[in-house]
Amino acid sequence: MSEHQAIPLARPELGAREEELVLEVMRSGRLSLGPMGERFERAFAEFLGVEDAVAVSSGTAALHLGVRQLGWGPGEEVLTSPFTFIASANCLLYEGARPVFVDVDPETLDIDPDAAAAAVGERTAGLLPIDIFGWPAAWPELEALAAKHGLGLLEDSCEALGAVDAEGRMVGTRGNFATFAFYANKQMTTGEGGVIVPTDAGTAARLRSERNQGRAVDMGWLDHDRLGFNYRLSDLGAAIGLGQVERLPSLLERRAAVAAAYAERLAEVPGVEAPMAARGREVRSWFVYVVRLADEVDRDAVIRALREVGIDSKSYLPSVHLFPHLRELGYREGQFPVAEAASAHSLALPFFPRLSEAQIECVCTELAAAVDASRRG
Ligand SMILES: Cc1ncc(COP(=O)(O)O)c(C=O)c1O
Repeated sequence: MSEHQAIPLARPELGAREEELVLEVMRSGRLSLGPMGERFERAFAEFLGVEDAVAVSSGTAALHLGVRQLGWGPGEEVLTSPFTFIASANCLLYEGARPVFVDVDPETLDIDPDAAAAAVGERTAGLLPIDIFGWPAAWPELEALAAKHGLGLLEDSCEALGAVDAEGRMVGTRGNFATFAFYANKQMTTGEGGVIVPTDAGTAARLRSERNQGRAVDMGWLDHDRLGFNYRLSDLGAAIGLGQVERLPSLLERRAAVAAAYAERLAEVPGVEAPMAARGREVRSWFVYVVRLADEVDRDAVIRALREVGIDSKSYLPSVHLFPHLRELGYREGQFPVAEAASAHSLALPFFPRLSEAQIECVCTELAAAVDASRRG
């Protein structure tokens, strides 16, 4: 395959509306803390069906502010999944709380609620479930577990905007703090950015102050009444975000159509298991398209073979407890066998709304050949 036909892993979908809104901000001269930020927040909250949404500079910033709102800190433990993007563990470390990992469910790859229940101990202060790869965590069970033990609940929905849980509710709408992320590979983007869904008007005000260096809304530039951060989303990012929210239903639909086209073709490919789209009332929101390769397939050889024909793919995700700064807390190989097996055999394929039928066909054909050639023994 020649260079210009290369198929990337992800690509944002931006158009005339985003350009128009970005221009509006540029011409207004209000690049930060202007009206576009509020317009974006209102549109996002409306899409989700929640009272309010606080826009911040990244999903990680949203998670960090969530940890602070819940008051998690030194001496406290928070149960969470090791099969995640590193930010959901790091946000606890920022505040001195300890991430206590619990293995994941083999079908959903989200935190196993029974394992979480078994892991609750004296120091447990909360739960931080992740809707990984856009699959909703077991929210009814996890909410009940949190209520039973009086635990705080912080939801990492950064990969799952639009996913629907077992009770038919969109993730991020259950009344706990929930976080979303808008890096360019996500269901919608602001370039860099995130949102935290507050629990009430009081937490919304504190979040808006903490993202803005600890200033209350009516305070001057050099006044601060609490510790804060610069976690503001620029109005340029908000403008892109508003354009994206306006057509979010069609962006989500297109991602689902690409996923369905993949699933149809991959059903014929031995050694490749496609991700489930729905189960009962649960519905995945398609962030990435991650397949599971059979144990005997050399995944890294498949990645190399695909790269040679210009197709980007990625081992996805590593189990974060094995990164050096978490090993320092005592974590080791073999502690979370379901997560570690998923890390060893999962592969993300090119996935974005504009992926054409021909490109999907090409990826599947090349994947089938690469898998066939990469069987060990
Ligand atoms: C599960 C999860 N949590 C948190 C984040 C952090 O978001 P950001 O990159 O916007 O800081 C991401 C983003 O990739 C994510 O996938």
